[in-house]
Amino acid sequence: MATRLATVRTSSRPQVTPGQAPAEWWRSAVVYQVYLRSFADGNGDGIGDLAGLRSRLPYLSWLGVDALWINPHYPSGGADGGYDIVDYRAVDPDYGDVADLEALVSDARRLGLRVVLDVVPNHSSDQHPWFRAALADPDCAEAGRYHFAPPSEEPPNNWQSLFGGPAWSRTPDGRWYLHLFAPAQPDLNWRDPAVAEDFDRTLRFWLDRGVSGFRVDVAYGLFKDAGLRDNPGSYSPTLFGHGPEQAMTWNQPEVHDVWRRWRSICDEYPDTMLVGEVCLADLEQVALYSRPDEMHQSFSFRLLKSPWDTAAFADGVQSALDAFGAVGAPVSWVLGNHDKDRQVTRFGGGALGTARARAAALLVLSLPGSPYLYAGDELGLPQAVVPDEAKLDPIFHRSGGARAGRDGCRVPMPWNDTDGVGFSPDGAADPWLPIPAEWDRYAVSRQTRDGASMLTLYRRALALRAAHPALGSAEATVSTSGDVLTVRCTGADETVRCVLNMGTETVLVPNPGSVLLASSTHVRSSAGSVALPPDTAVWLTED
Ligand code: NOJ
Ligand code: CA
Repeated sequence: MATRLATVRTSSRPQVTPGQAPAEWWRSAVVYQVYLRSFADGNGDGIGDLAGLRSRLPYLSWLGVDALWINPHYPSGGADGGYDIVDYRAVDPDYGDVADLEALVSDARRLGLRVVLDVVPNHSSDQHPWFRAALADPDCAEAGRYHFAPPSEEPPNNWQSLFGGPAWSRTPDGRWYLHLFAPAQPDLNWRDPAVAEDFDRTLRFWLDRGVSGFRVDVAYGLFKDAGLRDNPGSYSPTLFGHGPEQAMTWNQPEVHDVWRRWRSICDEYPDTMLVGEVCLADLEQVALYSRPDEMHQSFSFRLLKSPWDTAAFADGVQSALDAFGAVGAPVSWVLGNHDKDRQVTRFGGGALGTARARAAALLVLSLPGSPYLYAGDELGLPQAVVPDEAKLDPIFHRSGGARAGRDGCRVPMPWNDTDGVGFSPDGAADPWLPIPAEWDRYAVSRQTRDGASMLTLYRRALALRAAHPALGSAEATVSTSGDVLTVRCTGADETVRCVLNMGTETVLVPNPGSVLLASSTHVRSSAGSVALPPDTAVWLTED
């Protein structure tokens, strides 16, 4: 049974109104990441789909986000959660069809929401017709669109797969082919012009259906060293991403021309945007992907990858403001996604992790730029324990179980706290990943009734962010004092401070103005100051 929610939007942000072109909406948009397979199941087969998502659009509008990014919806070989695409200009029958996507976009527009799709240009599925043709005939045109090497005892070089093991596998006839991810994800050869031309067609196909842009998978990939030289170091990405030790596989200079080409296509369609996944250790290099003639944004994963530590968070915020500021791009803030353990669990689990996740939400929603919220984080979902036999992630399987994999952050959403959790209609098949029995406690229906819930906090924060331009689109200065992190957001009409206590003692924060929002009911306000307990945050106006 669907949870019924009133559709109220208090946003002062530009709305999606046909015929109007709000200026650069993406600079401060709150983007909600929908893991399609896990969001809402419309037809009862246990798999989330476009009809299910469409039925839940009123929830997203009520929540107060500006746009949604949908993880890959294409026909896929199923080897990597949809990131192994068989047909780039179609919809996987598990999710519906192109007409469903069009209906979703049009309903979303009516509610003032934009739809951003995922596009995967670094690799296709091994079931893609090009790769199948290339396996059947080494001399066909399609073979030139991948990286093949002649049969030999050893692989052509020392390149490693991100999912474990060598990045080269053999074809049945003994050739080698390159896959920087799973063997079922052969890397495309972007030096073959047919590849670029086909992606042009793909972008236009979806833009013509009214989508507002694309999240670009592995945007730091595509080109590899033309001489296939060994990487200088072993595969050991730093906390923040890949560095010079993998100089031959990532971040080749030619890739920037692809983003210029894609930008010029997007520029033909008003109000569209590109956001790139660029997992490089050097944030200044990441920011180069969002120069004015390239993508509009490239994700800042610093906070996603930072421990709960004042200096780490302060640096995560400041370094991103600096790097993206230098190229004139907004920062796209990420605290959670489908590749990383849920934040409640990362920040310590249970009540502690939840308190920290609440405080962190106030931090990211105060910052200038574009926050990306991962579906379920607004409910405070923890990392689910998925039994090994139910796990699907190739990271788990290729590491022989040594790495837990990403299934635990991809478990379906709990919508109701009655008759199951309402992910699927009554009497439906089992969900594609098991939902923990106790997840009814996180259900949307329950949290909407609870004024102290994580969902209520997110909704209030989003409404305030929309109503106060100092939040999300101001000049921000970052400072620390002991374990207290302060971001001062100075807009044209007011200043709002976000103060976050990451230490173990309550601190007294001077407050000449008023409390706009607190992450916890334990935050106490008295004349001229606020008592901020550990792991809490507050928004303060200076009036
Ligand atoms: C990044 C995506 O977020 C991840 O889920 C996927 O496994 C890899 N790219 C490969 O496409
Ligand atoms: Ca379904």
